[in-house]
Amino acid sequence: MHDTTNDLLHKPVMVEEVLDYLNPQTGQVIIDCTVGGGGHASKIMSKIKPNGLLIGIDKDMEILQIAKQHISEIGNIFKLYHADYSEIDEVLRQAGTDKVNGVLLDLGTSSLQFDQAERGFSFSKEGPLDMRMDRSQGITAKDLVHRLSEQKLEELFSKYGEERWSRRIARAILKEENDTGITSTRQLANIIERAVPRGKSKIHPATRVFQALRIAVNKELESLEVFLNKIHNYMTVGARIVIISFHSLEDRIVKNKFSERAKQNIFQILTKKPITPGEAEIERNIRCRSAKLRAAERI
Ligand SMILES: C[S@@+](CC[C@H](N)C(=O)[O-])C[C@H]1O[C@@H](n2cnc3c(N)ncnc32)[C@H](O)[C@@H]1O
Repeated sequence: MHDTTNDLLHKPVMVEEVLDYLNPQTGQVIIDCTVGGGGHASKIMSKIKPNGLLIGIDKDMEILQIAKQHISEIGNIFKLYHADYSEIDEVLRQAGTDKVNGVLLDLGTSSLQFDQAERGFSFSKEGPLDMRMDRSQGITAKDLVHRLSEQKLEELFSKYGEERWSRRIARAILKEENDTGITSTRQLANIIERAVPRGKSKIHPATRVFQALRIAVNKELESLEVFLNKIHNYMTVGARIVIISFHSLEDRIVKNKFSERAKQNIFQILTKKPITPGEAEIERNIRCRSAKLRAAERI
């Protein structure tokens, strides 16, 4: 499964743009807070060699093994941590540093997670309703569906999925949950398909509900908020932060926090508008089509 030609199944998004904005230089300390399979991290590593330090974080233990294999093909100046990036303080303490020259976040799931049916992220593959990035802890999507009331499910789909049919879907889910129980991704996707009117939308009717459950299971927005409240404390003057998000909820949080820090003269915003992938990249990698990159510099 691991191709040593650097062509991992997860294609890193907007690599040129990431390197342009992050601007990693030889000898620098760069932290990749969502190291995934190590696609971006390997490129960064090539730039900071031979005496820099790459710190990589991922909350998915299995993916960290792939990152390790991939990055070590480029060099050995890296340290990897199994953690949530909101625990940045503890990671940096363990890495023995309190300042970094660059920070990267490439949010969401990796294809390495998404394409494995047994991880339960995909509505098009039959698998258990899990969706945990960190399989060593936490509640699963199945637990949520099982425990939440109809009203709470409706709120969740509406808030984290911006789903207009949230009430109908929540009702249909609760009915099936009470009748037979819901355990699998395809079962849930079928319930949603039956519950919503057939529209003209190009996206699958289960897309938003799956996004909402994934965000809730992994506490994605909470982690991002906690992280953004403190990361500037660990950035040297001139350090860059680059964040790629994949849905409007994340992008809004990043945009608002960058503006707040700019008003406080802590960040200079480098991307007035978010940078998006070019057509050629979207053609090569359809999953990057919703990516938005924002960057700022510590001043
Ligand atoms: C889109 S992938 C990153 C891909 C990577 N940039 C590459 O080029 O291979 C996102 C990764 O971030 C991890 N992740 C998501 N939220 C996280 C969090 N709060 N803390 C740590 N890792 C997280 C996921 O497990 C996943 O591996």
